[in-house]
Amino acid sequence: MRIAVLGSGTIGQSWCALFLAAGHSVVAYDPDSAMEERIINFVKAARPALENLGYGFAGSVEQFRFSKSATDAVEGAQFIQENAPEKTHLKHALFSEIEAHLDPEAIILSSTSGITLEALQQGLSDPGRIVIAHPFNPPHLIPLIELLGNDETEQFVMERVRTFYELLGKVPVELKKSIPGHIANRIQAVVWQEALHLAQEGVASLSDIDKAIANGPGLRWSIYGPNQLFTLAAGDRGLEGFIEHLGPSFQDWWSSAGRVELNSTTMDMVRQQVSKENQDLDAMKKHRDELLVKILEAKMATEDRGKPS
Ligand SMILES: NC(=O)c1ccc[n+]([C@@H]2O[C@H](COP(=O)([O-])OP(=O)(O)OC[C@H]3O[C@@H](n4cnc5c(N)ncnc54)[C@H](O)[C@@H]3O)[C@@H](O)[C@H]2O)c1
Repeated sequence: MRIAVLGSGTIGQSWCALFLAAGHSVVAYDPDSAMEERIINFVKAARPALENLGYGFAGSVEQFRFSKSATDAVEGAQFIQENAPEKTHLKHALFSEIEAHLDPEAIILSSTSGITLEALQQGLSDPGRIVIAHPFNPPHLIPLIELLGNDETEQFVMERVRTFYELLGKVPVELKKSIPGHIANRIQAVVWQEALHLAQEGVASLSDIDKAIANGPGLRWSIYGPNQLFTLAAGDRGLEGFIEHLGPSFQDWWSSAGRVELNSTTMDMVRQQVSKENQDLDAMKKHRDELLVKILEAKMATEDRGKPS
């Protein structure tokens, strides 16, 4: 299958790696021609991890081409993964440039984190050919993909998109309506807000709060979501038993949850407590990705999903 990747920064490069790993042919476009080398280096670096996860990289380098023209990149592509900067006017300009060059059946998949589908659709004369397909960074490793269509989207389009990502080994979830931040980022935002609130209140350092999450709920969250986990937390009476047992406490904690602004006071605290400790970003990224691959390998071995075909 031929895929166009528009915008080849953090997210576009990672998508290129996954699409190539799955044996697709990829044409990447970015107005910054330095991105060609960056993509090639990114794919090389990502390849061992993806091979460990079972991707075959059939063809790989021969299947990749970089183009300085968006219209050329989309010619003949069945899917267009759009990862341009998070600015509506810029994405609209890109859509109006490519629309006349799209194959009749081609679908645009926008990686946008925060722009609504309705706003994106205003940049196209056929709003039915765009779907939000929001990845979680880094998309070549994290299986989650959040999908959103609306009344303008034909059911068969959503089905094609879902199948496309499932065959890539992704785990699609479908939003029933538009909301800023989709699902996972909204949940992350609430967790981060409470982490900052606890540190501001002097309850614990940000470092200890990070440790508490990474060594406690974070480990369980990679297996089950909170509704499933709490079903296991009150003997054999399931979620209902849990709500009876700990529901009032949760209600209490919700009432005292913090509201934090990202103002200079918060930023000073973050700078003091985090920036000094975590200087070696490359080493942290490497560690994150190595562990991620091990976790994904374990999940693939025990769960009936996520295997690339
Ligand atoms: N970074 C994340 O964690 C993350 C996660 C999920 C989704 N996203 C979404 O992915 C998209 C891209 O984010 P990113 O973090 O990769 O940004 P980025 O700044 O790393 O990359 C954007 C790329 O787009 C290129 N670009 C500039 N103008 C363009 C144009 N007119 N057409 C095509 N490309 C153009 C830039 O040269 C750059 O290489 C955004 O919509 C963002 O919301 C980001």
